[in-house]
Amino acid sequence: MSLFSTRRSFLKASGMMGAATMAGAIGCKIPGRKHPHVGGLSCAPLETVKVGVIGLGMRGPGAVYRLSAIPGVRVTALSDLFEARVAAPTSWLTEHGFSAPKGYFGGPDEWKKLVDDPDVNLVYVATPWQMHVEMVKYALSHKKHVACEVPMVFHVEDCWDIIDLAEENRVHCMLLENCCYGDSEMLALNMVRQGILGTLVHGEGAYIHDLRAWNFKDNSYEGFWRLKWNAQHGGNPYATHGLGPICQYMNVGRGDQMRVLTCLNSGEFGFSEYVKVHAAEIEALKAKSKGTKYGMSDVDALTGPWKQGDMSTSIIKTVKGRTILVQHDTTSPRPYTRINLISGTRGVLQDYPLRIALDPQYTAPHLGWANEKQLGEIVAKYRHPLWEESGELAQRLGGHGGMDFLMDLRLCYCLQNGLPLDINVYESCQWSVIAELSEISNANDGAPVEVPDFTRGAWQDLAPLGIETVDLELNQDAKAGQQLNV
Ligand SMILES: NC(=O)c1ccc[n+]([C@@H]2O[C@H](COP(=O)([O-])OP(=O)(O)OC[C@H]3O[C@@H](n4cnc5c(N)ncnc54)[C@H](O)[C@@H]3O)[C@@H](O)[C@H]2O)c1
Repeated sequence: MSLFSTRRSFLKASGMMGAATMAGAIGCKIPGRKHPHVGGLSCAPLETVKVGVIGLGMRGPGAVYRLSAIPGVRVTALSDLFEARVAAPTSWLTEHGFSAPKGYFGGPDEWKKLVDDPDVNLVYVATPWQMHVEMVKYALSHKKHVACEVPMVFHVEDCWDIIDLAEENRVHCMLLENCCYGDSEMLALNMVRQGILGTLVHGEGAYIHDLRAWNFKDNSYEGFWRLKWNAQHGGNPYATHGLGPICQYMNVGRGDQMRVLTCLNSGEFGFSEYVKVHAAEIEALKAKSKGTKYGMSDVDALTGPWKQGDMSTSIIKTVKGRTILVQHDTTSPRPYTRINLISGTRGVLQDYPLRIALDPQYTAPHLGWANEKQLGEIVAKYRHPLWEESGELAQRLGGHGGMDFLMDLRLCYCLQNGLPLDINVYESCQWSVIAELSEISNANDGAPVEVPDFTRGAWQDLAPLGIETVDLELNQDAKAGQQLNV
């Protein structure tokens, strides 16, 4: 789908002409609901979660190892384009005493056999962004639960298709937003839930991570998919790491709702300078080009120009008057940060490094940022129970300091116990689709864009995410994960 460059063409291309829009904003029309919403969906408990993982590049194998460590979970099938990428985690599984999963590889549609496999009840997607929508839709239409890497979907129209399928088939569809399970993020959630930061006013999140070298390697992003995205799109393609946790703090989609977004990107300077400095390496990569994939040739992607500006800044305003700033920069030599700032009438928490300041009117004794001792006391008092109980195991099993494991653990625990998942299909779509909304706004010099209410009004009644944990003792094999040497 092409970028909608004007207000009129956005409305037209989205089939939204005539939509009632808020004053001055590029608007959208909400299609009618065909099935009851799935906001707090509970499904029949799965005695065994049988996972099929699609995409075994840099991200997928870690999921295989983590999922295998969870009691009552089996990785039953694996799929990738390349046999060797299926073979490596298969060997790991058998060497660690697990049954060999079925392997589906060798062609671009082999993954469909994994979805069709009756021995798979959870499809776990870790392929390039460009593949997510087709895989998610196919899995939902085959009544399989889906967990999909970030971002799940880029276009508003695809969101509606995914939501309609999830509502029709009554299955779960969860964005694998691991940053919602970070130690600091869960600490913030717990403090917010206990009212320590007061009424929430403003949040800031980001994905600032220097990925220049990764984009120009022939053994990293398969087929240069990320570089190609940068060549073809502006806006913020990867908002969810910073945005997801803030939406959870603010109950966005569950009591509040995004209303309008505006975005401006800087120009592109980072890649252009990088390719000059690394000219010989880039020429060698061009000589090894494997042709055209993901909508453009390798040579064109390596040559540029790239539409994606270095720094993308969006501001979102919610129905209840809160603001969220979201940034993206993967082409500057900046130290990693997701910012993770949440500010309320009684205090503020900000990460990188973790700092907390509480209003002394309510919480004695400090003014300004808490000192090291005070910070330690606050963290000890408000650490999320999931981290308190399972944090040590998570850190040992790994994945970004343990948050990836806690995400997988909660996902599987909820499926095993017939509980609603922490991230529903509406949140998965709304957090992801900032990609298209920011691209439209940026292409129109920061014009405000209305954010579709994917819940079709259900946000007013959906319960906020609680302080949820897992009861490992419920399962007789609870110690299995702790014995696994990963
Ligand atoms: N949550 C996080 O912290 C985090 C971190 C890294 C990556 N990711 C996400 O994970 C996803 C994968 O990223 P990556 O870095 O592993 O990319 P990658 O290119 O290393 O791996 C993608 C894999 O998908 C396979 N693939 C492509 N088309 C396929 C098809 N038709 N059928 C089966 N397999 C296919 C490729 O062969 C490759 O092995 C992306 O969505 C990315 O944004 C998330």
